[in-house]
Amino acid sequence: MKLLNLNISFEQYAGIDELAENDRLLCENAEQALATSYSPYSKFKVGTAIRLATGQIVLGSNQENLAYPSGLCAERVALFTIGANQPDAVIESMAITAHTDTFEITKPVTSCGGCLQVMAEFERKQKTPIAVIFYCLNGEVLKVPSVKSLLPFSFVEDRLER
Ligand code: THU
Repeated sequence: MKLLNLNISFEQYAGIDELAENDRLLCENAEQALATSYSPYSKFKVGTAIRLATGQIVLGSNQENLAYPSGLCAERVALFTIGANQPDAVIESMAITAHTDTFEITKPVTSCGGCLQVMAEFERKQKTPIAVIFYCLNGEVLKVPSVKSLLPFSFVEDRLER
């Protein structure tokens, strides 16, 4: 038996003012995306902004449904929008933020496993890292350089592609 360790490095900022201009702008866009969240059941709004290599920014927000599992997270709404409309686009970075009137969110909200799996496949397909920024409104920001750091053991089965 061998005991192995994985290390991940990520950046922590006290607020978006500490970010480089393009990352700050991406966080502000994620915040704007909260406005289109359809979340009457959880009352938990999630907004995502994705920057493409061309500089274009694509937004997404969580979309719920009375049949709960039919809803979709903000990250996947934004990613699949790109997949469906610009399948060859290269994603540079994405920012995620959340808001609810029900309680105060004091730390960045990190993505669910299903969204990480989808991010991992976009990253694998384009063969360049996607930086992920988790932004707590008016608070701390975490920036991870690659989806690989968030989901090092994502499902990979190359033989399914043949
Ligand atoms: N949600 C997201 O949009 N992204 C995540 O990564 C986790 C959760 C949404 C789904 C649901 O509409 C609400 O947050 C509460 O779970």
